[in-house]
Amino acid sequence: MAVPPVIEWRDGAVRILDQRRLPDAIEVLHCTQVPQVMEAIRTLAIRGAPALGVAGAYGVALGAHSYDAETDGRFADHLNRVVEDIAGTRPTAVNLGWAARIVRAAAEPHADDPGAGARAVLERAHELAVDNDRRHLELAAHGASLLAPGAQVLHHCNTGPLATGAGFGSALGVIQAAHSQGKISVWVNETRPLLQGARLTTWELDQWGIPYTLITDSMAGHFMQRGSVDAVVVGADRIAANGDVANKIGTYTMAQLARAHGLPFIVAAPISTIDFETATGDAIPIEERGAGEVRGHGAARWAPGDAPVANPAFDVTPNELVSAIVTERGIARAPYTTTLAAWREPVEAMA
Ligand code: MRU
Repeated sequence: MAVPPVIEWRDGAVRILDQRRLPDAIEVLHCTQVPQVMEAIRTLAIRGAPALGVAGAYGVALGAHSYDAETDGRFADHLNRVVEDIAGTRPTAVNLGWAARIVRAAAEPHADDPGAGARAVLERAHELAVDNDRRHLELAAHGASLLAPGAQVLHHCNTGPLATGAGFGSALGVIQAAHSQGKISVWVNETRPLLQGARLTTWELDQWGIPYTLITDSMAGHFMQRGSVDAVVVGADRIAANGDVANKIGTYTMAQLARAHGLPFIVAAPISTIDFETATGDAIPIEERGAGEVRGHGAARWAPGDAPVANPAFDVTPNELVSAIVTERGIARAPYTTTLAAWREPVEAMA
């Protein structure tokens, strides 16, 4: 069966490939109301920072299209509420609120004409989605140049098209591009607790025919010690202006391990993931998720039902552990405050 798009706007609804069901089933959620999109985001039916950006954009478009003057108050106030509601569903990935606010701005000239406002928001959302696609293609090509022929790459979480909503992934896009040049094999971290590596990255690598080995996160150091890893490549949920990187919990551990073994630690993300307003990683909000995700998975539970749990979904890797940040503009090296700033774009240029 052909795999449906990760997310698309069709017939006045937002359609989302339900990643909670992968790899066992391919199911599509049909969202006609904003709370359905928010629930899909909150429960990780759609996830990954750039894909969340696309979801945020189409979510606001849905909010604009479902506006009801009788119950929703002023159109402008309604849209502002929709943006804040959507942006608040997952606080760490900067792309979500960023995209929601960009498309909402398209309605500003149409405050007294909700129909025209809704059309303008949707058009902007489409533009962002197309732009997101192009940027990941370019990013992948830049990143592949960092990997030597035959490289064994360690990857954490899931950063493929499932996570970007584009034709190419970010970190996995680099791996896709390197594979097309005939070089690469991948160590796939399972990525506890929600198993994005085991469930989603393996599924994507299988589709592309890229050789991989699935390991538990705690095995990574062992394989580095044995000389079986040449580089670590990960994505990002938010990159502070100084190059500190928030990404899936466990990324910081991989960065420390890479440093201890003298391996390059490469971060691949589009410029939309760089938060120039946040000076350092200390200021990045870290999403705390439910205890049930750590006590078990799906229907299985392996800890006492009341075991106290901590479940930060992300951690922050300090910039001094980052060898390179790859974006659609090229490869940045330290000092990141300077090299990243050179890539800052006016919002209008994003699409
Ligand atoms: O909680 P998730 O699955 O949304 O976390 C995703 C990640 O941490 C990814 O590494 C990151 O968003 C980059 S995706 C291209």
